[in-house]
Amino acid sequence: MRIILVGADGDIGRAVCNELSIRHQIIKVGRKSGDVRADLADRSSLEAMYARTGKVDAVVSTAGAVHFGPLTEFTEEQFMIGLNNKVMGQINLVLAGMNHVSDGGSFTLTSGVLDRDPVREGTGAATANGALGGFVVGAAIEMPRGLRINVVSPGLLDVSRERYGKYFHGHETVPSERVGRAFAKSVEGAVTGKVLIVE
Ligand SMILES: NC(=O)c1ccc[n+]([C@@H]2O[C@H](COP(=O)([O-])OP(=O)(O)OC[C@H]3O[C@@H](n4cnc5c(N)ncnc54)[C@H](OP(=O)(O)O)[C@@H]3O)[C@@H](O)[C@H]2O)c1
Repeated sequence: MRIILVGADGDIGRAVCNELSIRHQIIKVGRKSGDVRADLADRSSLEAMYARTGKVDAVVSTAGAVHFGPLTEFTEEQFMIGLNNKVMGQINLVLAGMNHVSDGGSFTLTSGVLDRDPVREGTGAATANGALGGFVVGAAIEMPRGLRINVVSPGLLDVSRERYGKYFHGHETVPSERVGRAFAKSVEGAVTGKVLIVE
């Protein structure tokens, strides 16, 4: 398969690459990294990315920003970071990409653990993650040409503990290899409309 991987250079992106690049051709995408440059926050750059890559068999996103901060200090603008970037960025990747994925292909997005196992200061992420779960459930029943769509919702990755660990005291980390395999299940398997939990 030819697979677009937005966020390939990140912690989750590398786990996905390690798993899928054994069997498939990966087109790595980032704002400042990868084979093709695109920004999830800018729909026209996503359209330019698809024009450049041509037809693909799967699209995977392992990118999306959210703001962390105490609920009592959250501003509307800070909530909108997650809603615009992590939620609408990944939704736009699907909306702009539907005609560029071959029949029976798939989209796989990334959410995260915080809408089921919250931490302090994580409300922005929890909100974005819940929205993405709703999106794939709703979208799956209307996808044309046998296209499938899922979202992978991992716990904190082992390789990310140093960066995010201060928010996650007491949480078990998830081996990166298991996270990679969840994406393989979505891309290479038959499931659709699912939140694939890895914890
Ligand atoms: N790491 C974890 O333990 C974990 C667990 C659960 C959920 N998550 C979620 O998974 C997502 C990825 O996390 P991560 O830790 O793997 O991130 P990361 O290590 O910071 O990597 C993010 C990757 O995405 C690219 N990227 C960032 N913003 C982008 C944009 N607007 N458009 C296109 N590419 C973009 C970056 O490359 P450029 O800088 O070149 O754009 C980079 O390759 C986040 O939404 C995070 O909340 C992470």
